[in-house]
Amino acid sequence: MKIIKVQNNEEAGLKAAEIFKKEIKNNPKCVLGLATGSTPKTTYKHLIKFHKHNDLDFSDVKTFNLDEYYPIKKENIQSYHYFMHIKLFDHINVKPENVNIIDGECDDYQKSCDDFEKMIEENPIDIQLLGIGSNGHIAFNEPNTPFTQKTHLVQLTESTINDNARFFDHHEEIPLHALTMGLATIMKAKKIVLIATGKNKANAVKHMIQGDKTPLCPASILQDHSDCTIIVDEEAAELIEE
Ligand code: GLP
Repeated sequence: MKIIKVQNNEEAGLKAAEIFKKEIKNNPKCVLGLATGSTPKTTYKHLIKFHKHNDLDFSDVKTFNLDEYYPIKKENIQSYHYFMHIKLFDHINVKPENVNIIDGECDDYQKSCDDFEKMIEENPIDIQLLGIGSNGHIAFNEPNTPFTQKTHLVQLTESTINDNARFFDHHEEIPLHALTMGLATIMKAKKIVLIATGKNKANAVKHMIQGDKTPLCPASILQDHSDCTIIVDEEAAELIEE
């Protein structure tokens, strides 16, 4: 794992956006794996700036998102579908047919998961952006998810539901399930960039980098990835031993 220490989320977003920019410039037809949550917002802000000011061209880029709540309507402002359009897709020239977000409205979730996994097999992800949950989850792979898992339905843990409660007006609106790329799906990405910022990520970051490799901390699987960069701010890096 390559660790890049920065001061705060703003700087982390710029670093990550620069890595993504380089990837897109090198290969305009690259496949991007994208993430939601509050952490990557600054990354998307900088990618939009690069697009507007430096002509960063997304016209041949394909994207796959990590996860989506289930069930949820696309137009629900809490859906990851909505988030991605507002925070990134509406401001760049990616083609709608090149955007892949797992369908949170489907009836047959197993089929959606299998189709999504197959699409990724056919379009291998060149670079995957990740955040991390305070309990060490990546995408929606909660603690105890087998490392071999592909795209699947998950029941969210109390800890993740509480962490995400800040985005919802009423607690009962928070979906209890999600559809997510599995850990095996994520590990197939050729390059991974994980951003962790803020005090509440310090424990998870310490375990991910210096703890045992165990499904108790899903992010610890990244210790086995051959090209994984962790961008961490001062607060999230607090418990890392030098
Ligand atoms: C959700 C998402 C994850 C994200 C995590 C942390 O659970 N499924 O992909 O990493 O939230 O979110 P935040 O960046 O808001 O702390």
